[in-house]
Amino acid sequence: MIRVLFVCLGNICRSPMAEGVFRKMIHDERLENLIEVDSAGTSDWHIGKSPHKGTLSKLAEFKVSADGMVGRQLTVKDAGDFDYIIGMDAENIRNIHNLFGDHDHQRVLRFLDLTSHQKDVPDPYFTGDFQETYDLVLEGCQSLLELIKKEELSK
Ligand code: 4NP
Repeated sequence: MIRVLFVCLGNICRSPMAEGVFRKMIHDERLENLIEVDSAGTSDWHIGKSPHKGTLSKLAEFKVSADGMVGRQLTVKDAGDFDYIIGMDAENIRNIHNLFGDHDHQRVLRFLDLTSHQKDVPDPYFTGDFQETYDLVLEGCQSLLELIKKEELSK
């Protein structure tokens, strides 16, 4: 099993959006027996909470399920549990490396570095633009699936 973890600050806007979109993509490509997906936040601010209503309505609009999504905080154990740890922005990436410390991980990637954009995923908690974030998340998920196919599934 290949395990993918999306990470943002709060685990209520960007990373649950990516989790839902990527899970649907995996389902549509019949890869659910090969790839698992989860999300977490670097902060403890929204532990136990549902995704933001803006993320929930964007996922519903595009028929992406948000079933069972509950906010949780990233832990050191995640370094061992996941093969790909995908941060939404440069601050997430710094926080992930700081937390992991000696348990540092080969595959901590900034999401949009996998695309032609090479930038942070804008945080709709602050921008209010969930569509802009959705469009970039969709592109990032397509690129991530291509990477995993190339690195893992062609073996
Ligand atoms: P996220 O967005 O990291 O994409 O989930 C945020 C959610 C909550 C807060 C900041 C960013 N907050 O300040 O509570």
